[in-house]
Amino acid sequence: MAFHDWKWLLLLGRQTTLAKVWRSRRGGPSLCWKRCCHWSTGKSLDPEVRAFLEENTEVTNSGHLTPEIRLRLLTPRCRFWREKPDLWPYGDPFWAIYWPGGQALSRYILDNPRVVKGRSVLDLGSGCGATAIAAVMSGASQVLANDIDPIAGMAMILNCELNHLNPFPITIKNIINSEAGNWDLIVLGDMFYDEQLADGLHRWLQKCIRTHQTEVLIGDPGRHQFLSHSIRSQLHKVIEYSLPENTRQENYGLTSSIVWSYHPSNSSDNS
Ligand SMILES: C[S@@+](CC[C@H](N)C(=O)[O-])C[C@H]1O[C@@H](n2cnc3c(N)ncnc32)[C@H](O)[C@@H]1O
Repeated sequence: MAFHDWKWLLLLGRQTTLAKVWRSRRGGPSLCWKRCCHWSTGKSLDPEVRAFLEENTEVTNSGHLTPEIRLRLLTPRCRFWREKPDLWPYGDPFWAIYWPGGQALSRYILDNPRVVKGRSVLDLGSGCGATAIAAVMSGASQVLANDIDPIAGMAMILNCELNHLNPFPITIKNIINSEAGNWDLIVLGDMFYDEQLADGLHRWLQKCIRTHQTEVLIGDPGRHQFLSHSIRSQLHKVIEYSLPENTRQENYGLTSSIVWSYHPSNSSDNS
């Protein structure tokens, strides 16, 4: 299966299927992947990984909703766009795509800095880190990016460098099963693509809101798993963006992306 097929499946919302295929073909995480985990404990970016990411991504600020932000992404000009995934030494590169949900959130934050100014912000499932970057650029007092993929963490550091920002703190812990985080604002871009993950997120977000009155913003382009999830009935539409042509082409059938605000009802849905 070529990388292009991976992307195609991913964009159809069948990430889980692809992740299983990918993993079974590669036989689990590589040694290099394990070594990368040390980065989160404060060691500097592994030079071998840095070189690999720099060689196999393209720096771009076009084709997405936030030309103010430069990112290292996987584009048709990159080797692994067509290369066999077996040769890719790390986990599935979700971080190498700037997803429509994250694009909408970042655009909204850049256009409405008051949403984050002077506030603490958690970008959950940060991927390439664009939304966290938008929060820093817009004056958030504290930003934490969270992604369970350690390579995403490294890509975020490179993306901070590209945008002349000091890297914000990044954690690769799976925090959604832990206690509620005390954040003024939690942002989630394109995170409702898998039912089990969506259930876990929903429960954790409810806890954060009830414990700390956290504000929650979700960016999603209308994926089936999101629209059919119980959280959908408790969301209020904030703004809808028409997607740029390039993003439309990459995201078969999707034409816009929406920022939603989450207000759980007291009567409560405990899903
Ligand atoms: C579809 S991508 C979205 C990335 C980014 N928010 C954007 O919109 O471009 C989903 C990201 O969530 C991460 N992820 C999946 N499960 C997670 C979890 N339990 N906690 C944190 N991140 C997670 C994946 O590694 C991936 O980078």
